[in-house]
Amino acid sequence: MATPMIMDHPLIQHKISLLRDKNTGSKEFRELVSEIAMLMCYEATRDLPLKEVEIETPIAVAKTKIIAGSKLAFVPILRAGLGMVDGVLKMVPAAKVGHIGLYRDPDTKQAVEYYAKFPVDIERREVIVLDPMLATGASAIDAINQIKQRGVTNIKFMCIIAAPEGLEALQKAHPDVSIYCASKDQSLNEHAYIVPGLGDAGDRIFGTK
Ligand code: URA
Repeated sequence: MATPMIMDHPLIQHKISLLRDKNTGSKEFRELVSEIAMLMCYEATRDLPLKEVEIETPIAVAKTKIIAGSKLAFVPILRAGLGMVDGVLKMVPAAKVGHIGLYRDPDTKQAVEYYAKFPVDIERREVIVLDPMLATGASAIDAINQIKQRGVTNIKFMCIIAAPEGLEALQKAHPDVSIYCASKDQSLNEHAYIVPGLGDAGDRIFGTK
């Protein structure tokens, strides 16, 4: 089981402080989520395999490297995960994007997938699942279950803020999934909000209540 990678780069930490501020409006909040996702993506793709190629420069033939092997797909968990898509695509513009939306049936407590659309070759791609907040971990666990059911074996999970409870639950349910987060906060409150967190990320991104 890999320990979660906490990305505490000064630029990311600075932007998270602005994100947490209750006086930050939706426009700035959206921009910050996108910028943080972009910076995190840079680190989360550090282990992408490379292969050597020969490129003719105007001067000589250079032996140089390009990304090899498995291609990437990003899968935002609806709805807050959408806020991270722009940023990660700035880093990997050729990646494909799948979407997944889930809710929990109040009677059966089972996750119900209300929306899912993935690239046709998803099982041959490395998949990075996106959700800015990892609270209880339930949505991330369910989303990754659904993605694994499509045959995907190479999965990473990227969030901006995580609660210790969510990190533990996700690691336990999916020990093969590497977790990247930018801040491990204190705890969850009785309403399953992360403390101190930043409130409801979806509402703050989309200006809803
Ligand atoms: N989802 C959010 O958007 N915020 C939280 O604090 C927890 C879950």
